[in-house]
Amino acid sequence: MPRDGITPAQIPGPPAEGGVEAIVEAGGLHNYQLRLHAEYGPVVRFPLPGADLAVSVADPLLLEATAKINKRPEKLFEFLTPLQESGNLQTIPADEHVPWRKVMLSVLAGRPSHEAHFARFTELTTEMADRWAGLASPVELQKDLSELSLRMICEYALGSGLESEESAGRVVSAFEDLLTEYLGRLYQLETPGTEEERAARAEEALTYLRATVDQVIAAHAEREGDAEADRSDLVAALAASGESPARIRDTVLMTLLAAHHTTGVAISWTLYLLARHPDVAKRAADEVDVVLGDRAVPEYGDLKRLTYLDMVLREAMRLYPPGPYGAREATEDLVLGEYTVPAGTTIFYPFWAVHMNPDYWPDPEVFDPDRFTPEASAGRPRFAYIPFGLGPRSCEGAGLAMVEAELVLSTLLKRFDFQLASEQTIQPIERFVLWAAEDIRMNLTPRSQG
Ligand code: HEM
Repeated sequence: MPRDGITPAQIPGPPAEGGVEAIVEAGGLHNYQLRLHAEYGPVVRFPLPGADLAVSVADPLLLEATAKINKRPEKLFEFLTPLQESGNLQTIPADEHVPWRKVMLSVLAGRPSHEAHFARFTELTTEMADRWAGLASPVELQKDLSELSLRMICEYALGSGLESEESAGRVVSAFEDLLTEYLGRLYQLETPGTEEERAARAEEALTYLRATVDQVIAAHAEREGDAEADRSDLVAALAASGESPARIRDTVLMTLLAAHHTTGVAISWTLYLLARHPDVAKRAADEVDVVLGDRAVPEYGDLKRLTYLDMVLREAMRLYPPGPYGAREATEDLVLGEYTVPAGTTIFYPFWAVHMNPDYWPDPEVFDPDRFTPEASAGRPRFAYIPFGLGPRSCEGAGLAMVEAELVLSTLLKRFDFQLASEQTIQPIERFVLWAAEDIRMNLTPRSQG
């Protein structure tokens, strides 16, 4: 609702009536936002379910004005509240969020933690690749790569504190039970069992996960003073900074949630684009061959030499941003170019539309990793490319996600050629992440190099 007769009424946008129907008709919010900006320009007001008034901004220069906001609209994220004991981490206020983020970044963004977990990530990737090599039928990329990402992040978040490989497997399946139920509720999907059975299964999974984190906290308390572990360990760092056990349990759950499908689909979409562009795939595989030589897997230090692969991954996340949008709530009146929006307005970040803005990405539909050479990137506004969001609520896991994705991609490209299985339609839909509706089925051929 326009407040105090303020200007948002002047921002162009579709009629308020029929908002939900228009989103459904477009095939989801991710497609709707592309249409909105194509029709109404870079700043659009639109009726967003769960918000009084939303203003979507697809111009990277205008996004600058929003870059300091540390508040997300509570209503849009309240479906996650039952998963959290100490306040919803997606929407906790800035005074709690700022110190929490600092601890998160001290571990997640640092080389020591990436290096410490690299060997285990490599083992998990190799196990998956070995399994793929024995398959006669096409691989379902999203399913397997999301599962791999979940295994990696479970080991990362809980790793040395877990009692056994078996407990790691149980954590993975409990988290999957929980997520199936929550995403099922959010998107009204058909899931097996009665409502009561599903609720009971989700509750049991949640209880198990929380108890497991408690065990890990206890194990760390016993190992206090182990400097080597402290530099790479999320749970230990959170405990050392005085975060409560409830907040640590919430953080582990939120980290699993944030890291699981996002990293899995980033890798899947990259392989999909490579299969459709054999020239790019060959250049990427040639680079992997040069950097790895006759080794089957990279070492941590190799990643920085895989510069073309890095550009391929970035370009894939431009075309298919795993998280297709984000949101903030204006905490004061905000000037967006010629418009002023009042405090309290929901600012919608249409990441996908930003990445398809033809002012900064000529022929935006074309897959061209060379857009990310240092020369091509020079002078491009910093918010023209925002797969990990922006500002004080941007993704804390960005650095780790790049390490995981580049490790998996280089291992797979070293070993296999990928061809899309015939007779499939690849339909991007939004299911918390930008997902291919019917997965992406791929035939693999061992590479003679491999
Ligand atoms: C390719 C993989 C990933 C992508 C594309 C991605 C993207 C995003 C995006 C778009 C947001 C919202 C940012 C915003 O509102 O401005 C976000 C938030 C977040 N992500 Fe990621 N993410 C990825 C992987 C990860 C990983 C591996 C972790 C942790 C290990 C992680 C942890 C988080 C957390 C904790 C938040 C909440 C940030 C906050 O409220 O302070 N993400 N991510």
